[in-house]
Amino acid sequence: GNAFFYLATAPSFFGKVADQLGEAGLTTENGYFRRVIIEKPFGHDLASAKLLNAELRKSLNEKQIYRIDHYLGKETVQNIMVLRFANAMFEPIWNSNYIDSVQITVAETLGVEHRGGYYDTAGALRDMVPNHMMQLLSLIAMEPPNSFAADEIRDEQVKILRAIQPIPAQDVPHFAVRGQYGAGGAKGQFLPEYKAEEQVAKDSHTETFVAMKLALDNWRWAGVPIYLRTGKRLAERVTEIAIQFKKPPFLLFRKTRVDDLLPNQLVLNIQPNEGLALRFGAKVPGTLMNIGTVRMNFEYEDYFHKQRSTGYERLMFDCMLGDATLFQRADMVEAGWSVIAPLQEAWKSGKVPTYSAGSWGPAEATALMARDNREWNEISETKRYQTVVPPKST
Ligand code: BG6
Repeated sequence: GNAFFYLATAPSFFGKVADQLGEAGLTTENGYFRRVIIEKPFGHDLASAKLLNAELRKSLNEKQIYRIDHYLGKETVQNIMVLRFANAMFEPIWNSNYIDSVQITVAETLGVEHRGGYYDTAGALRDMVPNHMMQLLSLIAMEPPNSFAADEIRDEQVKILRAIQPIPAQDVPHFAVRGQYGAGGAKGQFLPEYKAEEQVAKDSHTETFVAMKLALDNWRWAGVPIYLRTGKRLAERVTEIAIQFKKPPFLLFRKTRVDDLLPNQLVLNIQPNEGLALRFGAKVPGTLMNIGTVRMNFEYEDYFHKQRSTGYERLMFDCMLGDATLFQRADMVEAGWSVIAPLQEAWKSGKVPTYSAGSWGPAEATALMARDNREWNEISETKRYQTVVPPKST
């Protein structure tokens, strides 16, 4: 019958397993499909990803290879395309004429759990950016595809990844920030430093947080900065994309100043909340012309009462159906690695700033935004500055 093989092994075995499957005749399709799902990390840099692609193609053709990125299986990630292309009202303003900036946040409260061995060799940059964050970015920024066929969509996605302006090696400190969590706390609980985690080197320089500013060299996005941040042991678990619109050029209303108003913002909530929120100005009732900032929310749960999925179930089903739309093509993976290559190079040495576990990351991340007169989208007001006392040693 049909078969797919799911390689959730140590990455160093991906090529070897594919080889052995080939030698045993298990990748030959004789009227039945033979597919191989490859987990991430797909290589550890551009060169190794290319090598792995070449290795896999010795026993498999591209149509048999399914490079999984579980973010693409998330309903809310797929909804980015529906939001943009099944509605007429967003696309006309989805460009640099109206959009000021975009922020993509993937924040986790968890530490490295039992994966310290893997994580300490990977770090936040490799673990999250070339894969999950690049997927979110490409879906938000891509041009409408000609159809929903797998390669039409992936062609558009890869164009975006290739449009990302390379960060010059000497300018990395200006465009990107890394950090490692030190001891801290959340919800009254003491949280140990990263270096104290299981299977993590005591003198580890691995980053558990990254933030960066990217720019896209294309007609639609020229001049719109795209800010990314991701990290472990942050103040809240939240994945969201915030689209910040430009301010109105001039305000008609007496005694209001454009500077006092918060710009319109559309936030796509990926998780744990699933939905979207629109921020805009409304008149505060009363005799004076005061403008307040209000929010309109859409929550999936209110309409669809669907159980949340992790993404994997949908992706395995698609693999059985032979639909590769939500899987990464070789060129996408390679383009993702190219984006972070200068950062990997620059961060081979140097000091990694620390941040308190349970905070929003290192001060350098705030400074990165401040240089552009911007701030990270406020996610939690209460937890940001919580102080927690470590337990007394016994
Ligand atoms: C994985 C990373 O791919 O994604 C983990 O290796 C990370 O480090 C996880 O925690 C995040 O996934 P989710 O679905 O919880 O956002």
